[in-house]
Amino acid sequence: MTKILPKIDMSIISHFIGEEMGLFFPENKWVELERGLKRACHAFHYQDLNTCVQWLMSSHLNQEKTEILASCLTVGETYFYRDTKIFETIEKDKLIPLIYERYKSNRQLRIWSAGCSTGEEPLSIAMTLNRLIPDIKNWNVHLIASDINTQALEKMSKGVYSQWSFRNVSPSIQSSYFKEIGPGQFEVLPSIKSMIKTFYLNLSQDVYPSLLNDTNAMDIILCRNVLMYFSEEKIRKIIKRFYHTLSDGGWLVVGCTECYDEYYSDFVSVRINGMTFYQKKIESLKSNVTDPPIQRKKIVIQPESHSKELNDIETIENYANAGRLNDALKKCDECIEQYKSQTEFYYLKAMILIELGQDDLAMQTLKSVIYLNQKHIMAYINLGSIAKRQGRINDSNEYCQCALSLLQQLNPESVIEGSGGVTANKMIDMVGIMSNAR
Ligand SMILES: C[S@@+](CC[C@H](N)C(=O)[O-])C[C@H]1O[C@@H](n2cnc3c(N)ncnc32)[C@H](O)[C@@H]1O
Repeated sequence: MTKILPKIDMSIISHFIGEEMGLFFPENKWVELERGLKRACHAFHYQDLNTCVQWLMSSHLNQEKTEILASCLTVGETYFYRDTKIFETIEKDKLIPLIYERYKSNRQLRIWSAGCSTGEEPLSIAMTLNRLIPDIKNWNVHLIASDINTQALEKMSKGVYSQWSFRNVSPSIQSSYFKEIGPGQFEVLPSIKSMIKTFYLNLSQDVYPSLLNDTNAMDIILCRNVLMYFSEEKIRKIIKRFYHTLSDGGWLVVGCTECYDEYYSDFVSVRINGMTFYQKKIESLKSNVTDPPIQRKKIVIQPESHSKELNDIETIENYANAGRLNDALKKCDECIEQYKSQTEFYYLKAMILIELGQDDLAMQTLKSVIYLNQKHIMAYINLGSIAKRQGRINDSNEYCQCALSLLQQLNPESVIEGSGGVTANKMIDMVGIMSNAR
């Protein structure tokens, strides 16, 4: 039987959780904290809450404990078109003007649902885009969705939802985009599900913006009902990283209770229909690609490499982060010409080609990466992901299998080269989700 924790312990535990994870539990949230700890007790296979808490606090939290705790201490509550007014405003004031502008230029959109839980938020955006853009197949839409909770991501990749998720949706939308597959069970259409790239990402970590996990040059970031869990210090850091992840003029959309203007001083705050949206200041259009790098290094350089190569990689990433993909591509080609057998430049080139929607060329380039380094896990994973997008499921499974067998040889806690900071054990989960999802 689990016991209720004494008040004194709650104060120590909330302090510990704040220090180790940046999650904020003041006294008025201790009931929620205790409820979350009970879920964690179950997840860590403990019978007794006190013993579990003592075990957790006996040392610093490693990545695995942090992630399990984060998924237990935060609530994954979400549903389609949660907060109708926000979705109506995003459609009318953000998406329609953006689509009109991009229709005349590159027909590209980049949107990130950060803290997507089981996927109702990014799927709502996918349905809206599908309705707004009749020839969406001719567009390069990057709709990415991330969360720390891999169980939630797994549910999203299955794409099956109960009637409760539709409590804010008109029957016509539900019947247009979902197929009833059992009593009260609705499966999203593959054409909508495949618009979204789902992946694991811990927002507390310094892993974005990055070309490597596609978190760069975003037009819109939705991070709703996530920041409320974090301490002030963590919120400020996350908002700073979002700032750098957005393109100039891009928008950050947070939950209604998360709009404290003082946190968003780098942004222009814009009130529409009683809601606040944050826009990246246009002054930054002047930003110079040789500015100090906005991203910590995740790329492993061969020992014999010198700082010129690092500078070149930073320049490519800064171009990509600023949305200047053609400049980034040109620089990659120059570097490939100059350094010949340096895999990093081929891999970056492949990532840029994927962003540009040039999957066939990206595949060729990823194969060059594997030719140079047969153990390049991320190259196999990206080949698997492209093959899956193209409907070549057997090929996709073969690439995933190659990635899995390489991953299984690694220390589970080691960070995968080119992954944007994901560890081997987490990547095994993600490849499993990718290859099991239809
Ligand atoms: C209430 S849900 C929000 C879902 C959706 N954004 C919405 O508003 O409907 C909060 C989500 O934040 C995620 N989350 C909490 N801490 C996180 C972290 N450090 N990194 C990424 N996601 C996190 C949780 O796993 C959970 O799925």
